[in-house]
Amino acid sequence: METKKLALITGVSRQEGLGFEIARQLAEQDYKVIISARDTAKVIRLAARLQDEGLDIVPMVLDITSDDSVGKAFAEIAHRFEKLDVLINNAGAWYDAGVSPLSQTFDYTEQAFETNLFGAWRMVKVFVPLLEKSENGIIVNVSSGAGSFSDPQTGLVAKGDTTAYGISKLALNGLTVKLASELKPKGVRINAACPGFTATYEGTEQWGARPVPDGARSIVWAATLPADGPTGGFFRDGKRLDW
Ligand SMILES: NC(=O)c1ccc[n+]([C@@H]2O[C@H](COP(=O)([O-])OP(=O)(O)OC[C@H]3O[C@@H](n4cnc5c(N)ncnc54)[C@H](OP(=O)(O)O)[C@@H]3O)[C@@H](O)[C@H]2O)c1
Repeated sequence: METKKLALITGVSRQEGLGFEIARQLAEQDYKVIISARDTAKVIRLAARLQDEGLDIVPMVLDITSDDSVGKAFAEIAHRFEKLDVLINNAGAWYDAGVSPLSQTFDYTEQAFETNLFGAWRMVKVFVPLLEKSENGIIVNVSSGAGSFSDPQTGLVAKGDTTAYGISKLALNGLTVKLASELKPKGVRINAACPGFTATYEGTEQWGARPVPDGARSIVWAATLPADGPTGGFFRDGKRLDW
C-alpha cells in the first residue's frame, strides 16, 4: 500500500488553472498527487512540469462525466495504490456570465449540471471505497460564491445572471451536506470550498481576481484538515461562508 498521503485532483488541463497549483502545493507538503484531465497529452505535459520541480506527481486520464472513464481511473488507483486519502473535485465549467434564467437554455444548463454536480457526485460514489481505507479520508468539492446567498458580487442574489453555473454550484453545496452525514460513519469528511475570484484566465486581474496561489491555498486548507476537522461545511480561506 502507498505510504505517502495520496491525493487525486480532477480538471487539471491548464497550467494557469487552480488544479495545477493545488497539485503543486499539496506535493510540496509531501503528498503524492494524481493530476487528472480529459486530454492525455495535456495532463502528461503538466505532470512533467511538476515532476521537473522534484514533485511526486502521477498523470491520469479522467472525464468526470463518463462512467467508463471514472471506473477505469478507480480500477487503476485501486490496483496501484490500494487507497486514496484526498479527492478534490476541481473540474468545473459552464460559466454563463450575463445569462439570465429566462434566456438560458435547458441544454446548456443540463451540461453545467452534468459536469459541476453529477461529475463530482459520480466521483464520490465511485471513490468512497478507496477513501474509506484512509485514516483520514477527505473530499473537497470546489464550489463558488456564485452558488451562495452571501456573496455580494457574484452570489445568487447579486445579479440575475450566471444562471446555470450558479445554480449548479448551489446544488453542489447541497450535495456536500447530504453526503457529509452519510460519509461521517465511514470516517470520510467532505466540505465545499471556494477559491474566491481567482486569476485563472488572462485579464481577470483587472476585475479584481486574486493570484492563483492564493485561490489554491483556500482549497488546500480544506484538503489537509485534521481527522477531527469539520464536515458538511462551505469555506473560503478557512472561514465558513454563509449559503
Ligand atoms: N477561477 C475562479 O475565479 C473560480 C472561482 C470560484 C470557483 N472556481 C472553480 O474552480 C475550479 C477550477 O476552475 P479554474 O478557474 O481553475 O478554471 P479551469 O482551468 O478552466 O479549470 C476547470 C477544469 O475543469 C476541467 N473539466 C471540465 N469538464 C471536465 C470533465 N467532464 N472531466 C474532467 N475535467 C473537466 C477543464 O478541462 P478541459 O480543458 O478538458 O475543459 C479544466 O481543466 C472550477 O470548479 C471552478 O468552477 C473558480
